[in-house]
Amino acid sequence: SVGIRIIGTGYDVPETIVTNEDFAKIVDTNDEWITTRTGIKTRHIATGQTLGYQIGARAAQMALNDAGISIDEIDLVIGTTCTPDYLTPSLACMVANELGAKKPACVEINSACAGFVYALDMAKRYLSDDDYRNVLIVSSELLSKMTDYEDRSTCVLFGDGAGACVVTKSDDPFVSELGSDPSGNKFLFARGVEPGNPFSKEPFNPESDGFAKAAPHKLHQDGREVYKFATRAMPSAVKAACEKANIDPDELDWVFSHQANARILETAAKNLKVPLSKFYMNIADYGNMSSACIPVCMALAQREGKLVRGQKLCTVGFGGGLVYAAAVFEW
Ligand code: ACO
Repeated sequence: SVGIRIIGTGYDVPETIVTNEDFAKIVDTNDEWITTRTGIKTRHIATGQTLGYQIGARAAQMALNDAGISIDEIDLVIGTTCTPDYLTPSLACMVANELGAKKPACVEINSACAGFVYALDMAKRYLSDDDYRNVLIVSSELLSKMTDYEDRSTCVLFGDGAGACVVTKSDDPFVSELGSDPSGNKFLFARGVEPGNPFSKEPFNPESDGFAKAAPHKLHQDGREVYKFATRAMPSAVKAACEKANIDPDELDWVFSHQANARILETAAKNLKVPLSKFYMNIADYGNMSSACIPVCMALAQREGKLVRGQKLCTVGFGGGLVYAAAVFEW
């Protein structure tokens, strides 16, 4: 079966950096709490006129340059986001147009923080078909616009950013373990546009389906439940993917995990008996950028000279849905 190889990476983040001290000025919190509970020190936040597809396009162009190919050689653009600028057109179409693409297939995936790993899996499945040569994955998130800055338990966690990569066919194996626990959908959500029209008899009640009261369009999280899910689902997805790849987790050279909380990664590393040093981490500087975390980590690791061809990688994401996804392949 056809595998994949990542031949180019890129990333982009908004300029403004917000520190833990900045949060202490707007909610009842402090640097010590945020650092010890989450590992986050600063995050980039979009201010002014910046939109997600614009930073996504910059990350994508960087990935194309890195791969040394033109947008015309891309047959499919996969956008991943749970914070789209437009409900339609999709992130993929918006980025494709920014890059001057003529006619690529374009599709958007919303698997929250697992979106990038779902996109890698989807790329592999398309690339196993002769019609597709190269796939551009762009993961862009402006969590800040969906963050409730009056809720101290969530607002300190999130940052904005975009990561991208160019994926091509390879004989190297690629295996994945995708799944969900949809019964946990109420633990992490943001409402979309509410129904309502001139024929409605009464205004829509957003809590009619049993989801908690939350500020309109803002992320609501039961942090403890999500934490429990993440510490259970993440290592078990990594184990399952490694089993399919016929390797032990300790044979991995790198784990590129979703960056939700440094403590989740520490717990998973212990559970998997993989040294924490093999978990690439950028959470201290970027916070949780949902589906953009993993491709930004990979782009940074590559530029730091930490990725060497032939290394065995695991990418693993988990988040709203609740969903999880892990993939094992070679750099
Ligand atoms: N500053 C100070 N105190 C705070 C803050 C804050 N920023 N936030 C919460 N607290 C308080 C709480 O009010 C609580 O006080 P109380 O005991 O008086 O009620 C106390 O700290 C402990 O709160 P907990 O929620 O139990 O804290 P916990 O140690 O669980 O940490 C956290 C909270 C960091 C959110 C953690 O639960 C977590 O990381 N959960 C997982 C998040 C995650 O993985 N999300 C992933 C998906 S994101 C996506 O898909 C977009």
